[in-house]
Amino acid sequence: MEKRGGWGSKMAFILAASGSAIGLGNIWRFPYQTGMNGGAAFVLIYIIAAFTVGLTLFLAEVSLGRATKRNPVGAFKEKRPKSPWFLVGILGVFTAVMILSYYAVIAGWTVGYSIKAIKGDFSKTLTKASVQKMFLSFSSNTGLNFLLLLIFISLTVIVVSFGIKGGIEKLTKILMPVLFIILVYLAIKSVSFEGASKGLLFYLKPDFSKINSKVVLYAITQAFFSLSLGMGTIMTYGSYLSDSDYLPSSALWVVSLDTFVAIMAGLIIFPTLFTVPGMSPAQGPSLVFVILPVVFSKISGGAIFGSLFFFLLLIAALTSTISLLEVPVAYLIDEKKWNRKKAALAVGLLSFLFGIPSIFANKPGNFFNDIPFIKKDFLSIMDFVWGNISLLVGGFFIAIFVGYIWKYNKALKEINKSGKIFKFGKLWGFFLRFILPPILFIIILSSLLIK
Ligand code: PHE
Repeated sequence: MEKRGGWGSKMAFILAASGSAIGLGNIWRFPYQTGMNGGAAFVLIYIIAAFTVGLTLFLAEVSLGRATKRNPVGAFKEKRPKSPWFLVGILGVFTAVMILSYYAVIAGWTVGYSIKAIKGDFSKTLTKASVQKMFLSFSSNTGLNFLLLLIFISLTVIVVSFGIKGGIEKLTKILMPVLFIILVYLAIKSVSFEGASKGLLFYLKPDFSKINSKVVLYAITQAFFSLSLGMGTIMTYGSYLSDSDYLPSSALWVVSLDTFVAIMAGLIIFPTLFTVPGMSPAQGPSLVFVILPVVFSKISGGAIFGSLFFFLLLIAALTSTISLLEVPVAYLIDEKKWNRKKAALAVGLLSFLFGIPSIFANKPGNFFNDIPFIKKDFLSIMDFVWGNISLLVGGFFIAIFVGYIWKYNKALKEINKSGKIFKFGKLWGFFLRFILPPILFIIILSSLLIK
């Protein structure tokens, strides 16, 4: 039987979990959500959501993971054997495969766009129409996207095959600092562009009249996706922690770093965006791939700026896909006694196959581009079902389980195991039992009704 892996240090966990959290969710999704939902008001609600609902659930997931030292399915089985609770874990494992399948398609674009940027494609004079055309011909090029998806999943499989210390830890220890450096460099550069103040105002000065229930709903959903919560990723990463690590400070670190990166991503995008007349922040999902190249083509040093930006996105995406693959792989190793390499390869292949319809989602006139009756493309549906609803449902059940079934005071005992007492334990337990379940319930219902 394969020996279970573990982190070399607490720092390694913080970097790997941040690597999981920080991804396309922060640099691609957060800015476009902010752009569509009123700018600074959304940012404010998002920060509150991350540090209340997000932090509470984060701590619940790591404590259950470390207490059981198992994958999500095994964790529920160990605490409540012979009960249907393990199904929450199964949902998590399944969700991981599904998110990985479409997430890797978009991650593949970051590879393609990095190459485009290096080749100098963004240094010519570009207009919105020409970039739109470029994006369309790129994203509807089936063969190319096939290849990019394959490359991205293969990279992910290779890293996960090398295990916790030798693969995930080693890579995230190098890539995360690189990511932080590029991020801060680009943000400083962006806010110093002439005319940046317009974007800063939009992004940082809240207009409170823009806050409504929809903004709150999207902010909480975004926090779940961005913090990798609700499907057992953080539980799985937590299961490789040692008993001497103090969980609350790690949790606070990861939530803070993730929020920091999202805020910085906005700082890169909005000031730059507003320096070019006629660019709207409310572009939706294509914001990063359609609007930014135009912007890069218009600013001095835009070619380097652009190459670095897409490379940053690539790194962020890779450390997230690794964590997605690790969930089913941990399940197969723990529960089915598979060896790591075989598990990584098999699940990688499965995700690749499930990812194929998402490749066709951007090809106009294709079945997967405009699915009859639903009138949406396949990738958007996958994101809604797995990236939104499934995470919220998973989070709801994890909160109920840790709060009421395993019981919050047992979880608190686990949290206090390192010897350091968690001062806000009571408050945390209160949030977990009385705030999270009703809020999540309402959000799940309204998400289903709005769509
Ligand atoms: N948190 C990642 C991001 O922001 C996505 C992710 C979701 C990763 C769920 C793992 C689990 O891009």
